[in-house]
Amino acid sequence: MKMESLLSKFTCLHCLLLLLLNATHCFSYVQTQAQTLCHSDEHSFLLQFKESFTIDKSASGSPFAYPKVASWAREGDQNQSNCCSWDGVKCHAESGRVIGLDLKSSCLYGSINSNSTLFRLVHLQMLDLSDNNFNSSEIPSRLGHDLSSLSYLNLSLSAFSGQIPSEISKLSKLSTLDLSQNNGLELRKSNMRILVQNLTNIKQLHLSDVGIYSTVPDIWVNASSLTSLHLSYCGLYGEFPVGIFHLPNLEKLSLYSNTKLNGYFPTFNRTNSLKTLDVSRTNFSGELPSSIGNLHSLNYFDISNCGFDSHFPFSFENLTQLSFLEMTSFHDVSAGQFLVPDSLSCFGKLTKLNYLGLSDNNLQGNFPRFVANLTQLAFLYLSNNSLTGEIPKSLFHLRNLERLNLASNDLQGEFPKSLFHLRNLELLGLSGNNLSGVVEFDEFSNLKKLKALGLSGNRLSVRVKSGSSATLPKFEILKLAEYNLTEFPEFLKNQYELGALSLYSNNIHGQIPKWLWNATRETLVNLNLGSNFLTGFEENPITLPWKNLQLFHLSNNQLQGSLPIPSQSITIYLVNDNNYSGEVSPLFCNLNYLQVLDLGNNNLSGMLPQCLGKSSSLEILHLMFNSFHGDIPPFCANKNSLKFVGLGYNQL
Ligand SMILES: *[C@@H]1O[C@H](CO)[C@@H](O)[C@H](O)[C@H]1NC(C)=O
Ligand SMILES: *[C@@H]1O[C@H](CO)[C@@H](O)[C@H](O)[C@H]1NC(C)=O
Ligand SMILES: *[C@@H]1O[C@H](CO)[C@@H](O)[C@H](O)[C@H]1NC(C)=O
Ligand SMILES: *[C@@H]1O[C@H](CO)[C@@H](O)[C@H](O)[C@H]1NC(C)=O
Ligand SMILES: *[C@@H]1O[C@H](CO)[C@@H](O)[C@H](O)[C@H]1NC(C)=O
Ligand SMILES: *[C@@H]1O[C@H](CO)[C@@H](O)[C@H](O)[C@H]1NC(C)=O
Ligand SMILES: *[C@@H]1O[C@H](CO)[C@@H](O)[C@H](O)[C@H]1NC(C)=O
Ligand SMILES: *[C@@H]1O[C@H](CO)[C@@H](O)[C@H](O)[C@H]1NC(C)=O
Ligand SMILES: *[C@@H]1O[C@H](CO)[C@@H](O)[C@H](O)[C@H]1NC(C)=O
Ligand SMILES: *[C@@H]1O[C@H](CO)[C@@H](O)[C@H](O)[C@H]1NC(C)=O
Ligand SMILES: *[C@@H]1O[C@H](CO)[C@@H](O)[C@H](O)[C@H]1NC(C)=O
Ligand SMILES: *[C@@H]1O[C@H](CO)[C@@H](O)[C@H](O)[C@H]1NC(C)=O
Repeated sequence: MKMESLLSKFTCLHCLLLLLLNATHCFSYVQTQAQTLCHSDEHSFLLQFKESFTIDKSASGSPFAYPKVASWAREGDQNQSNCCSWDGVKCHAESGRVIGLDLKSSCLYGSINSNSTLFRLVHLQMLDLSDNNFNSSEIPSRLGHDLSSLSYLNLSLSAFSGQIPSEISKLSKLSTLDLSQNNGLELRKSNMRILVQNLTNIKQLHLSDVGIYSTVPDIWVNASSLTSLHLSYCGLYGEFPVGIFHLPNLEKLSLYSNTKLNGYFPTFNRTNSLKTLDVSRTNFSGELPSSIGNLHSLNYFDISNCGFDSHFPFSFENLTQLSFLEMTSFHDVSAGQFLVPDSLSCFGKLTKLNYLGLSDNNLQGNFPRFVANLTQLAFLYLSNNSLTGEIPKSLFHLRNLERLNLASNDLQGEFPKSLFHLRNLELLGLSGNNLSGVVEFDEFSNLKKLKALGLSGNRLSVRVKSGSSATLPKFEILKLAEYNLTEFPEFLKNQYELGALSLYSNNIHGQIPKWLWNATRETLVNLNLGSNFLTGFEENPITLPWKNLQLFHLSNNQLQGSLPIPSQSITIYLVNDNNYSGEVSPLFCNLNYLQVLDLGNNNLSGMLPQCLGKSSSLEILHLMFNSFHGDIPPFCANKNSLKFVGLGYNQL
């Protein structure tokens, strides 16, 4: 696996973190005054509703999840006899009717059907059941019939499935409807039309992850109350109705990951109130209009992985509220389009930027100077471009930087020692450049928060003082490929959190020491020690010690003996071009996630285990240049996902 994909995994972690943070900001519900008395029928409806579920910690993902219903109606507790004072329950101040039920992240597990006493709480105005596990229940159509007072309905992240019933459109008072992230819900196009037609008060409509698989009906341009529309991962295609951009109150529009959805940006005018605009991973194309500068409230803008023109309007300088700008691969790089840093100089005015993503854009020229102006920047991604020259010193004045990825450019000059001033760095990607000089590795001890470091493929030499290992940060990702390291750096002894390690293409001779695998037994997922001069493991293991290993890349070494057996988690096993001998153990057939098995060019012999033919995960099987004999395993066409089988140069 390449550095880039690992780094992008890292970015995902970051997104996840953001999501979690957001979750805590969501609808916070005010506990009702205890004096209102609860009606006895509703008291028992609530209790029966509670009884229909089991409490299961794993049903909710939020770190703040707890079972609210657990405190309901404790025996002999005076305070608990009034359901209006129960956690998550809100009653009307005068009538005492239950009007709000907030059971988000409450660890509820079980099914809901139309018999549920939930639907007897007919005065409900607010219902939040998000972040529980309703075990693939369908949304009962009764919800639309019986809870006609609802104005807030949130069933997101709760494992609902099946068709969204058209009866939802009967909830004419709805102003918030969130059915996103259920991963099994579908909405017919006709129902989508009725939804928009009937829900005339809708402000927040969140349907991300709902399978819609249709075009976006024109009628959406009439949803004039909308403030927030989330339609990411909906399988939308066709032309996106441009009128939606002009909806007078629209502040958030999220369309990401609808790869077949075509669209373009209109002429925006000053009345536009968009704050969040995300069209990443869609087929949006055309110009970035200069009227984009009119989006004066825009704070979050993501046009990554689209097909826009690379021409850049200078009016971007007016987007002064932007804090998040993600433009990775926003134009069709494969069509030969490129960008020059000077054309982006207007970014120097965007001084609130916290996140800037400009990777994969064929950005050609010197390091962009405007970056020095962006003093709030915490995330800067410029990898996979064609930047040349030196990294300017001014970059290292941006003391808030947490993630800096400059990998895969053509940056030159001495390794910039000033980067050790960036005390907040968590990720530093410098792989694949042309930097020279010496890296005093123990200086990384200054960067206590660093978790991912890529220095592969430069002209650097790494100097590691022995004894510094205890103070170095605990890396999760470490890439030191293509150095002339002659041995395993001793500091790795103290690296107990490594998930990915690459020492690919060094000069390391001899055995893989026991301490290396001892420290990383639990954590290591990706290991790349290919293209060295390794002969084996100290204490040759029959099974590999790493419990969660997915990538095992030891190609092109001098490994001897019998093939080590990986753990169940393995997906890619590469040991081609070594001196392994003996037979292939039938245990290789039991690896349910194994996709790539490359044993080519070793001294392996014997018969192939026939069970290899039964693997349903295997995609690439390369066994060429060995001494196998006997029958070829029966690969059954319908069960296999095999794309490549190389068996030549054996005696099969
Ligand atoms: C719905 O609930 C989820 C999870 O609790 C939350 O993140 C989201 O913001 C809520 N949606 C709305 C529109 O309030
Ligand atoms: C009942 O509620 C009152 C006021 O909220 C509180 O002071 C008291 O400790 C509660 N009693 C019990 C048994 O929980
Ligand atoms: C969840 O659904 C499965 C399959 O429909 C069913 O066997 C199981 O009993 C359900 N569990 C609960 C707690 O409802
Ligand atoms: C609803 O309850 C009735 C009576 O208890 C039962 O016969 C019926 O199967 C239930 N329906 C569902 C969908 O569970
Ligand atoms: C849409 O609203 C109309 C008028 O309120 C109502 O008669 C109709 O049943 C609703 N349609 C659906 C599918 O809910
Ligand atoms: C939008 O609403 C207007 C007035 O109600 C109507 O004339 C028009 O046909 C609607 N547009 C669409 C696309 O349905
Ligand atoms: C801006 O757009 C709104 C909505 O489309 C429109 O009503 C208004 O007339 C436009 N203003 C200008 C100056 O174009
Ligand atoms: C994507 O957009 C381009 C340019 O508008 C178009 O030629 C292409 O057919 C679109 N692709 C899909 C899958 O719609
Ligand atoms: C930025 O906004 C100002 C004030 O609205 C305007 O005068 C200026 O032309 C805009 N800049 C660009 C490059 O459009
Ligand atoms: C940097 O920001 C200042 C203050 O906003 C501005 O005057 C200056 O033009 C900016 N420099 C660049 C290179 O954009
Ligand atoms: C590694 O050694 C080779 C041969 O001595 C040399 O050409 C190369 O520049 C060295 N690479 C580094 C990164 O020091
Ligand atoms: C293996 O790790 C344990 C701590 O996890 C440590 O105490 C022990 O010394 C290590 N053994 C070797 C050989 O490194």
